[in-house]
Amino acid sequence: MATILDGKAINQQIIDELQPRIQHLAQTRRPPGLVVILVGNDPGSEIYVGNKVRTCRALGMLSEEIRLPATASTSELLAHIETLNQRPDVDGILVQMPLPKQIDSRAVLLAIRPDKDVDGFHPFNVGQLVANAPAPRPCTPAGIMEMLRRYDISPSGKEAVIVGRSDIVGKPMALLLLHQHATVTICHSKTPDLPAVCRRAGILVAAIGRAGMITADYIKPGAVVIDVGMNRIDNRADAERIAQGTPSKLAAFEKNGTVLVGDVLPAAMAELSSAYTPVPGGVGPLTIAMLMANTVQSAELRLA
Ligand code: GUN
Repeated sequence: MATILDGKAINQQIIDELQPRIQHLAQTRRPPGLVVILVGNDPGSEIYVGNKVRTCRALGMLSEEIRLPATASTSELLAHIETLNQRPDVDGILVQMPLPKQIDSRAVLLAIRPDKDVDGFHPFNVGQLVANAPAPRPCTPAGIMEMLRRYDISPSGKEAVIVGRSDIVGKPMALLLLHQHATVTICHSKTPDLPAVCRRAGILVAAIGRAGMITADYIKPGAVVIDVGMNRIDNRADAERIAQGTPSKLAAFEKNGTVLVGDVLPAAMAELSSAYTPVPGGVGPLTIAMLMANTVQSAELRLA
């Protein structure tokens, strides 16, 4: 039987460990502060941003949300970032990605003070990651490493295969696994014989954003499978294909007309892996936990 890697439980552990640190800061100096900027109204991004702000407040941290219209300009966004860079009560600035096309995302990432960049996306912090030097790490890959650590799954000496080469997940994930002595391969849409490459993996990370793309054919028996995908399915054909062998997913589709699925076929993952992250309840809760951890750490460094 595969172990289900329970992101909600690990999220709770991380939060429980942060709580006394937050209380200490609040009592001796001031609570840690995070400001989240959302441009436009992508429904997925709205849910993520809402969760981030709610979690912060539940933990007694300062949290503000800045909402700009989808038509906002780069300079408008940069003006907000400049104000937040200067504010002494703000430890973390997060600009929700992706940004609308007219905005120069690179200029935005460069504008955030690296010591307030709780996403770890600033080129300085990316450089620190490459060099394995201290800096905030991107939250999703950092959360996955924390999950592996807490389940005693060591990447050392294993083959790790990552499907997806994004700046937010794939690339930083590869570096973090490499620093923990895994042999790392990053795959993408032009990789020849992707199933064969994935079948080498002792640790397989799927971060493509394509519902149920990773089938049994991609999974070595006994592999640890990390499913970063979060895809909302609203058509029956896809739902039936992906939910095959997982009645709870089909029932969710029947009830709501939509269902949330990962990049990996859930039945294949449960059957073949030694351990896997479910969707939802796997990687998602860890991203938020690591954002909180990065914000608390930033406050501690600033107030030390
Ligand atoms: N969009 C998807 N994931 C993330 C994330 O971790 N941070 C930000 N800022 N945007 C995202």
